[in-house]
Amino acid sequence: MNKTIIIQASSKSTGNTNKVINYLNNNESFDFVDLKTKKIGVFEYDFSNADDDFIPLMEEIINKYDTLVFATPVYWYSMSATLKTFFDRLSDLLHYKKDLGRQLRGKNMAMISNSGANDLRNGFEMPFIESAKYLGMNYIGSTHAWFTEDENDIHPEAKLKIDEFKNLFNA
Ligand SMILES: Cc1cc2nc3c(=O)[nH]c(=O)nc-3n(C[C@H](O)[C@H](O)[C@H](O)COP(=O)(O)O)c2cc1C
Repeated sequence: MNKTIIIQASSKSTGNTNKVINYLNNNESFDFVDLKTKKIGVFEYDFSNADDDFIPLMEEIINKYDTLVFATPVYWYSMSATLKTFFDRLSDLLHYKKDLGRQLRGKNMAMISNSGANDLRNGFEMPFIESAKYLGMNYIGSTHAWFTEDENDIHPEAKLKIDEFKNLFNA
């Protein structure tokens, strides 16, 4: 069974984030989900989005995988809104789906970000580290990818960093 899932959280299914994922996952050792193909509403205090795709997706992720890799572009110095919405919805698991939420404990979290240049700002990683801690997950690391100006290819130095990042998973 494939134990790692990459969770793509970009506004473009075949954009730069997907390019980075395809490089990371060139030997297809990881499973993959594109959050853009899911209907996941914002967190609501009355849980009025409880019947959307979030809970079934989390059930599948929690049942099948030990390691969750979040892949996000940098949008306005932060994770994408798609991923922030996904994180907000983890709050559902602290209320009416506590049993499911508890099963995140002991699982691994990692993160791969990307933007045009190698200039990720301080603090970008903090929500991942702290959310993992709060949920009882092990945060195993991150990397940032960026692109060449001429061809919009992944920068060779970024490729080396992704290769190193991949070592975290014994893939
Ligand atoms: C809404 C939006 C906001 C962005 N904000 C930033 C930013 O704050 N810093 C940055 O370096 N790049 C920023 N970018 C550039 C993206 O990070 C970059 O193009 C990324 O590779 C896009 O990945 P995608 O094709 O998966 O969306 C932004 C792009 C968009 C569309």
